[in-house]
Amino acid sequence: MKITISMIKADIGSYPGHVKVHEDVMKVCEESLKEAKNDGLIIDYRIFNAGDDTELLMTHTHGIDAEVIHKFSWDTFIKGTEKAKELGLYGAGQDLLADAFSGNIKGMGPGVAEMEIEERPAESFIVFAADKTEPGAFNYPVFKIFADPFNTAGLVIDPKMHAGFKFTVLDVFEHKKVTLNTPEEMYELLALIGTTGRYPIKHVESKNPDIGIAAAISTEKLALIAGRYVGKDDPVCVVRCQSGLPAVGEVLEGFSLGHLVAGWMRGSHRGPLMPVPLKYSQCTRFDGPPRVISLGFNIKNGKLVGPRDLFDDPAFDYTRQKAMEITDYMRRHGPFEPQRLSADEMEYTTLPGVLEKLKSRMEKAE
Ligand code: 13P
Ligand code: 13P
Ligand code: MG
Ligand code: MG
Repeated sequence: MKITISMIKADIGSYPGHVKVHEDVMKVCEESLKEAKNDGLIIDYRIFNAGDDTELLMTHTHGIDAEVIHKFSWDTFIKGTEKAKELGLYGAGQDLLADAFSGNIKGMGPGVAEMEIEERPAESFIVFAADKTEPGAFNYPVFKIFADPFNTAGLVIDPKMHAGFKFTVLDVFEHKKVTLNTPEEMYELLALIGTTGRYPIKHVESKNPDIGIAAAISTEKLALIAGRYVGKDDPVCVVRCQSGLPAVGEVLEGFSLGHLVAGWMRGSHRGPLMPVPLKYSQCTRFDGPPRVISLGFNIKNGKLVGPRDLFDDPAFDYTRQKAMEITDYMRRHGPFEPQRLSADEMEYTTLPGVLEKLKSRMEKAE
């Protein structure tokens, strides 16, 4: 039986400011999910938060891009938004950029990472959800996980992985995509995905046709949809593990650097991506630092077993400590690059308004 895993998320309001989703908003969304499960629309679900983002994890048999699932998610976010408005939460309905649902939730604001799989006898997968960053934040770890033998021992010692993986990369400005093979085209791949704001990885597939899809990432760019700053496109990522795919520990190892990502404070700053357990999934210091949670599951006939809160482990204390040192160092740059993003990355923020004010005073220099 083919099962679809859908991770669909939106920032529909938080408190105080952009810190955390309110429990009552989660409850309203959970009621909606429970109903959908009772009605047979979905097989199973989990709901959680990544900072101020409400995350819906669903399993079903409707395939990816299914209108019924996307519409249901949109309606659930609308219900959550009503509660957020009633409570006077900050940014209620922030990511719902369209007035009404029209066929597919993509391009309407929420982030979507979906995959259709043929369940293996023991099917393990991990969902990652990040706050105060952008989809390209997953480029570095996803590359490490599926293409770097110094991260993933299985690439070297598991013959089932020797063929490598296929990466599909988007150009979000030109609305194009390209698929590159590793290890053969590793340098071409890196030439693109190092430009994280423009070339996010959309999905990864095993070259082994028995396995198929290995990872899916949400790549919605809110600013490109809205044409102005409306909060960052805090992304989600689903990664399958084990048996011809990277082991759980190899997948998590990809997040052990605390690598620098864009999106912190007003979507305008760079900081380290800190892996945290759910209980620390709230961004406080300078609205950050950007952070990522990781929930592990097994799945049987679409029924979810889990979650395991995978970053709730002292093994990640060192990364967190390091991330705070980097946080402090980056913060001391204040409004200077590279703590602040470069001018072209600030195009959709409020900075152009400031430059406009100075325009009439700009004189010709010798
Ligand atoms: P086991 O031998 O415990 O199944 O583990 C294999 C593995 O993938 C460890 O990384
Ligand atoms: P979010 O994108 O998480 O809503 O954060 C917006 C922001 O500007 C925080 O400083
Ligand atoms: Mg927000
Ligand atoms: Mg957010």
